[in-house]
Amino acid sequence: MRILVFGAGVLGSYLAHALVRGGNDVTILARGTRAEELQRDGLVIRHYFQRKTTIDKVKVTDTLPSDDIYDLIFVVMKFNDFPSVLPILAENQSRNIVLVGNNAEAGVMQTFLQEISAAEKKIVFGFQLSGGRREKGRILCIRGGGQMVLGGLDGSVPFRAILEKAFEKANYKLSFHNDMDTWLKSHIVPILALNSAVYFKNGRMKEIAKDKKLIKQMIAAMDEGFKVLESLGYTVTPANQATVIRKYKRLVYLFLIIYHRLPIAQKIDGSFEEIAALHKKFKEWRQTTPISVPRWDEMEEQFISKFNGRS
Ligand SMILES: NC(=O)c1ccc[n+]([C@@H]2O[C@H](COP(=O)([O-])OP(=O)(O)OC[C@H]3O[C@@H](n4cnc5c(N)ncnc54)[C@H](OP(=O)(O)O)[C@@H]3O)[C@@H](O)[C@H]2O)c1
Repeated sequence: MRILVFGAGVLGSYLAHALVRGGNDVTILARGTRAEELQRDGLVIRHYFQRKTTIDKVKVTDTLPSDDIYDLIFVVMKFNDFPSVLPILAENQSRNIVLVGNNAEAGVMQTFLQEISAAEKKIVFGFQLSGGRREKGRILCIRGGGQMVLGGLDGSVPFRAILEKAFEKANYKLSFHNDMDTWLKSHIVPILALNSAVYFKNGRMKEIAKDKKLIKQMIAAMDEGFKVLESLGYTVTPANQATVIRKYKRLVYLFLIIYHRLPIAQKIDGSFEEIAALHKKFKEWRQTTPISVPRWDEMEEQFISKFNGRS
């Protein structure tokens, strides 16, 4: 199957690797030094838990002309990167598009693509359950197996059969979800709390583990963040995220201390531009509800003021 992976960062690179190994004809759309690395060295991935390094030869391009048609396009990038690529995707005549990653505006992006594009576009949203970071020309990838949660906005997953075929021979699991928009919105709550704390401590995870007040603030903020979504009529999904935060605060507290002490916590990438963009969206939702969320507000204000004041 002819597949484009648009975005050659941490998660896009692992996805491309899985699809190549699954026997597909994969092209990566990359830019700048990342495109040069891929052309020169191939797709180099260090698999953290599996203790192995793989190198795959892939086709690399830096453009997507309108008549370059793929069976599937996966766009794997940060939430704040999407606006720059949506017009290019709309112009291109491929029909089946999967937007992968944190997304607070799934509906807006789908409408844009479907209204602007000359070709009939089918859109699916995905979230790959892996992490990692870029290291000296290679990707350090942390994963159990390869896995992606996927869903359409109206419950059904268009082109599901094509997706299943693409991954048939790949060592990669697809989990389909019938309310992906709510899944993505729910995911933003812990992402904002966890990443805001990383930003407050300038990336020093062990400092978070030592700061009991900050850990308690993160837990209280997550609880309030879920309340915002609930007051807007969303049922937090997976539901156990909210249940665990509310019923087992002490366990979550201990888990967060242990997690931030682990070497693996240092290996998960975060982008503060993306976190700032997600905070901005969340603030818009929060402002439409009457409920009081003081710990969330405190976290958000602290983040935005540090972000705006950065040199
Ligand atoms: N990494 C993790 O540990 C992790 C874990 C869980 C979830 N996520 C989420 O998954 C999503 C993707 O994350 P990621 O870590 O894979 O991001 P990433 O490493 O920043 O990768 C995004 C890639 O897209 C490229 N890109 C952006 N705009 C482009 C454009 N206009 N044209 C061409 N290429 C463009 C970037 O190019 P450059 O190389 O030039 O920057 C980069 O290579 C995000 O929502 C993230 O929060 C990440």
